[in-house]
This record gives sequence, structure tokens and C-alpha cells, in this order.
Amino acid sequence: MIERKRLEALLKDCPIGQQLILREVTDSTNLDIQRAAQENAVHGTVAVGEQQTAGKGRRGRAWVSPPGENLYFSMLLLPEFDADRASMVTLVMALAVARAVRDAGMDAEIKWPNDVVIRGKKVCGILTELYFKEDGGYYVIIGTGINVNQREFPEEIRTKATSLRNEKQEPICREELLAGVLRWFSTYYDSLTGNGDLSGLRREYESLLVNLNAQVEVLDPKGAWKGVAEGIDDKGELLVRHENGSIEAVYAGEVSVRGIYGYV
Ligand code: BTN
Repeated sequence: MIERKRLEALLKDCPIGQQLILREVTDSTNLDIQRAAQENAVHGTVAVGEQQTAGKGRRGRAWVSPPGENLYFSMLLLPEFDADRASMVTLVMALAVARAVRDAGMDAEIKWPNDVVIRGKKVCGILTELYFKEDGGYYVIIGTGINVNQREFPEEIRTKATSLRNEKQEPICREELLAGVLRWFSTYYDSLTGNGDLSGLRREYESLLVNLNAQVEVLDPKGAWKGVAEGIDDKGELLVRHENGSIEAVYAGEVSVRGIYGYV
């Protein structure tokens, strides 16, 4: 079980995670935060589950969440900026996870917009949800799942997913990793709120972007197309160069990208 005392000590002075909800078994930590938000939980409240019985992935998929090995956590944000900017927090979380994993000694990179990968295999997924309140305000839930100490993966995802332990060949302390992620997130979130966009984080994000200068296939519902990813703009849209030289900003809400030779 994640040790509350240890985590609290590591999060001393960190503005994010001062309110911690820790549960041994939960349906989904995103749901824990949704329930907490309805009870007026404060900005930066974090819910951690040792095991999730109904973990949610992106695009309606499930996030299989076995106990004892990984990190499943969600955070409540009550942003000061307008809701149309909220999707940027998901890139901020990807950057925070990638940094914390790098601090732990692994070469984490980001697959736009928010998967964290090591040697081309996914180690972390992020699900961001936006909820509007009756008073017209809104809140954001960022749910993050990191494959930390899991050693076995089902055959069908073995080429696409890995864990930190499998990459580093040694167990990773989950409390230290989580505290590292929350600390980086807090720093980066200050940049986001200060600038109102990702302008202060763009270069750093691009320095870890696995897709940078790589051929990508843009899976647009109106028709897939191929191009070269040249970075992100201040809103976090992926800038993709068409074969005719024009550059299109691709918005994560509508499309996803994949490498032309596989997952990244
Ligand atoms: C993805 O599909 O890549 C996103 C996966 C997000 C999983 C995390 S685990 C913690 C939080 N609670 C959930 O139910 N989902 C997110």
C-alpha cells in the first residue's frame, strides 16, 4: 500500500497534494475526485488508489489497474483561466511525469499529446475530464496511470507497453515518484497560469517530444493524412507539415497521431 506518512513528508511545502484521498480499492480515482469536487474539495486535492475496479482510459477504454505495483492517481484543478484553455493541463501533466521519471534515471519521452514512453513503449496514460458546475464555473480532473513496478504484460500489448521497473531493472519507490510528479506539476502549472498558455513550457516539452521531426499519421475523423511533426504551438496543438509544405495545427481533442512505423 502507498504509505500516507511517507507521501505527506515528501509533499511538505508542495502546493499540490496537501489534501490526499488514499484508498486501497476504488472504482476510479477520477470518480473519487469527482465526488470530492461535489463536496467542495480544494484545488490540488489528489486521490490515489492502490487498485481500481473501473479504471477509465481515453476513448472509452478501460485502464486495467492491478493492486500493489503501479500508480493510479487523479487531481482536482479549479483553474483561473477559461475552460477553452483547460486541455493544456494534460500536456503539463505529461511533462511533469516525463521529468519525474527522468529524475528517477530513465529516458522518458512524450508522445503527443500526453502519453509518456520509454524506448517507444508506453509507461503512462493521462485522462483529463472537464466538468461544468451549475454556477457556470468548471473544474478539471486529471487522472494519471503509471506502470511502475508491473513486470508482466498481456501478450497483445507487450510490444507497446512497459513499466519503469522493467526498463530500469530495479523496483521504483512509488511515493517518491508520485511526489516528484506532483512537484514538477506544481511548477509547470504556475507557468501555465502565469502565461495563460504553454509559451513558457513549449521548448522543454519539445525537447522531450518523441514525435519531433518524425513522420506521423494524423488520424483525423475526416480522413487520415501523413506529415512531419515540427513541434507544438503555445496552445499545445501539434504542428504538422504537409507534403506540400504547409503547416497545420492539429488539436488533440479531435484527432490522434501515430508513428508511421508503429505506436510512436
Ligand atoms: C489512457 O487511456 O492512456 C489514459 C489512462 C488514464 C488512467 C488513469 S489511472 C488513474 C485515473 N483514474 C482512472 O480511472 N483513469 C485515470
